[in-house]
Amino acid sequence: MKKTVLVSGGAGYIGSHTAVELVAAGYNVVIADNLSNSDRSGVEGVRRITGVEVPFVEVDCCDKAAFAKLFEQYAFDSVIHFAAFKAVGESVADPMKYYRNNLLSMMNVVDLMREYGRHNIVFSSSATVYGEADELPVTERTPRKPATSAYGNTKQMCEDILRDAVAAYDGLRGIALRYFNPIGAHPSALIGELPRGVPQNLVPYITQTAAGVRECLSIFGDDYPTEDGSCLRDYIDIVDLAKAHVAAIDRMVTGDGENYEIFNVGTGRAVSVFELVRTFERVNDLSLNYKVAPRRAGDVVAVWADTERANKVLGWRAERSLDETLRSAWAWERYVRKL
Ligand code: UD1
Repeated sequence: MKKTVLVSGGAGYIGSHTAVELVAAGYNVVIADNLSNSDRSGVEGVRRITGVEVPFVEVDCCDKAAFAKLFEQYAFDSVIHFAAFKAVGESVADPMKYYRNNLLSMMNVVDLMREYGRHNIVFSSSATVYGEADELPVTERTPRKPATSAYGNTKQMCEDILRDAVAAYDGLRGIALRYFNPIGAHPSALIGELPRGVPQNLVPYITQTAAGVRECLSIFGDDYPTEDGSCLRDYIDIVDLAKAHVAAIDRMVTGDGENYEIFNVGTGRAVSVFELVRTFERVNDLSLNYKVAPRRAGDVVAVWADTERANKVLGWRAERSLDETLRSAWAWERYVRKL
């Protein structure tokens, strides 16, 4: 019988791509989202790509009573918990908004899983937990650094909530996936990233600049101690990232592994901001308006993943090339802007 997975935050960028890959892998999917930073088009995109009327419930995971109804209605045994706020700057300006939303929704997931006798939780963590790491690439054993934003702190705290809950309560299992920098869009261009307002992340800023929505991309710093002076990151294709979630669910459903596990989800390749911009221009045959600007507060110089554990233990690896991913990012922007 097909197993069912609840995808909280499933109307959003990573959640919608993951819903598509879960359906492709033979799972039933239920999407829950409060649409605070997404809209129904994410769900519609999932339905169009898969040809399945994936059920969607508009609910806030912080509203435990409303969230509980979903557990009554659907017999899922696994949850992928994406639903969270994710803007670093906003979290520094309004930390309580982040602590309340991100921690409460995580605690409600854990509590309801226990109350309703459900078992597997995948949590969306982030490479932000490594901060300015002492060793590169970072492995899952590389020590976490104190968070420099409330957002980053909620990722660390939610990892710890999951670890402790799984240790204490029989039958509960958890996997934390530490994402590096997710970019790109589904090859169909029917789902992708929809930032509200001015994009904070590099690739949406690039695509909006190419589309003429933004005048000029600012490259934050060209005087870092790297080869070309710009920061190094590990840009992971969104479809590859989505597939890592399927691998994590497969692993828990088959009962393999420890009760609580952590995996880096990246490519293992460090790419500079300049290299990313140049690649975007080349593969899409356009020239981007950009300038060098001062460093952005809070940026780390370099972080990229050691992916050996995910490759060997999870049996997953990143497959899409950066060229392909950056073509998909531009195709999505053109679709959104009707260009
Ligand atoms: C950021 C967050 C990280 C979060 C992730 C989610 C910070 C400090 N970190 O990662 O916690 O998990 O997003 O996706 O905000 N850049 C430019 N110009 C721009 C935008 C970015 O040069 O307009 C540069 C940045 O300086 C950085 C690189 O591009 O070197 C990537 O930036 P971004 O996409 O914001 O991701 P991170 O900062 O790595």
